Amino acid sequence: MTDPQTLILVNRQDDGVLRLTLNNPDKRNALATPVLALIADILDSARDDTAIRCVVISGLPKVFAAGADINELAQKDVVGALADVRPAIWAQIRAFPKPIVAAIEGWCLGAGNELLMCCDIAIAGAGAKFGQPETNLGIIPGAGGTATLSRIVGRMAAMHMVLLGQPIDATTAQQLGLVLEVVGEGEALARADAIAVAIAGRAPVAVRQAKALVNAAFDLPHTAHLAAERQAFSALFGTADKREGIAAFMEKRNAEWTNG
Ligand code: COA
Repeated sequence: MTDPQTLILVNRQDDGVLRLTLNNPDKRNALATPVLALIADILDSARDDTAIRCVVISGLPKVFAAGADINELAQKDVVGALADVRPAIWAQIRAFPKPIVAAIEGWCLGAGNELLMCCDIAIAGAGAKFGQPETNLGIIPGAGGTATLSRIVGRMAAMHMVLLGQPIDATTAQQLGLVLEVVGEGEALARADAIAVAIAGRAPVAVRQAKALVNAAFDLPHTAHLAAERQAFSALFGTADKREGIAAFMEKRNAEWTNG
């Protein structure tokens, strides 16, 4: 079996952005469990690394990811599916506290689309196609392709994608809020990268809190969410970055964030 380490290219520079490229063209970047686990492990290592402030995930020019590995699915029975380690890996990815920007070109299907929905901002090239094709295989999505997708795009659009198993194009994905922007074919990574560099230059603690609190909209009732937001807002008043951000505004200079 191919070493999963070779299937993800990791590029770390001193601009605060960690760049991951899914790189398994022979399998159209299928997210086999070892590959998914490697993504989660890389993110885990980035969690406590203060030099990393944002992550970009991209794929290949014709495919972001073609879903779970269908060969793995073929081997799995009900006991295997119930004991599957994948839900824990997905939870690890969703729990990553720093922003992730996705750059999507080509196919973004099944678990690929579910990985996209773990990201915080997604940019699509004009030729990108998004789908939850699991019902084509006699199963349903298992990592957010019903639960998260319907919260993002709404019930009926999710029904359309899941019941028919047909892909939607980049413009439709943008109209539905699945991606933020559509750029020219082949330009998604450059745009995602620019957004990630901009985020990496902003107050790190505030950025992490902002991600957590926006994402809380998926889980918390509104009143509880407002209370959680206020708590996080108040907590930030104890940070050096809050003092620095306000001082920099008053002194008409750029802020120098300290991650504190
Ligand atoms: N799991 C495992 N292998 C996959 C795969 C997946 N999800 N998607 C593609 N592959 C493999 C194919 O089996 C094929 O392998 P082979 O060369 O050993 O025969 C290889 O990748 C190329 O696939 P192919 O279908 O010929 O590529 P394509 O460029 O014509 O089409 C896709 C690309 C993504 C449209 C097509 O591969 C596809 O529909 N994949 C399955 C998508 C899916 O149902 N995902 C949900 C899984 S739950």
